[in-house]
Amino acid sequence: MIKKSLIITGGLIGIIILMQSCSDSPRRTPGWEYMPDMAHPVAYETYLTNGVFADSMNAQKSPDGTIPIYQGMLGVESSYMPFHYPNTTEGYEAAGAEVKNPLTIDQDVLDEGKRLFNIYCAICHGEDGKASGHIVTGADVKSKFPPPPSYFSDNLLALPEGKMFFTVHYGKNMMGSYAQQLDRIQIWKVISYVRSMQDAYRASLNPSVSSSDTTKKM
Ligand code: HEC
Repeated sequence: MIKKSLIITGGLIGIIILMQSCSDSPRRTPGWEYMPDMAHPVAYETYLTNGVFADSMNAQKSPDGTIPIYQGMLGVESSYMPFHYPNTTEGYEAAGAEVKNPLTIDQDVLDEGKRLFNIYCAICHGEDGKASGHIVTGADVKSKFPPPPSYFSDNLLALPEGKMFFTVHYGKNMMGSYAQQLDRIQIWKVISYVRSMQDAYRASLNPSVSSSDTTKKM
């Protein structure tokens, strides 16, 4: 029975405290500050002012010319970085010699590359990469597009990936630029996929060379 009386007493005390705190008279003393750092933060608050910056605002604009350097893939330059090769024959040659695919190629990269390829490139190059695209071969297309080279021609099999990137970025003759549609990482995904098609083709000619061997060499 001790328990019961304890509960009742406790309840009564609780009710008294509750009623005490409800009062319509104005408070004469401020509440206790038991975590002052929360009420008066030491760190600068984003939307408050400080005495350090010229305009005193904590939230500052980025300096002019600032570009994001990270776009979801560590170690891969974002698409906002300028492509430092001019759209000239020399730029094309230099890109061919120097620009390398920065991606680690895995199944996800190839799947996404294939998806993008089928949206943007297959209309000319064909899903098979043999220039069988609809605007090249379609029976219902009145003025057909001149066939692009097959990815499995000797020239394109030997084409460095840096030149491929350059061409997709700037366009080449009848092929337009895809720099507006595809960001840098997406272009590399598409090129990885084109490469994988070329690897598969090579492997089909010479079954003793596995496709992963040729990927490593490139
Ligand atoms: C409108 C048709 C068309 C589309 C769409 C198109 N291409 Fe092309 N592509 C061409 C033609 C034509 C050439 C041949 C250019 C030349 O060498 O004169 C070419 C050439 C290429 C080459 C060889 C580049 C070189 O430096 O010789 C690659 C690689 C290539 N295309 C990849 C792509 C990729 C990837 C896409 C999609 C993002 C794409 N193309 C979309 C028509 C197209």
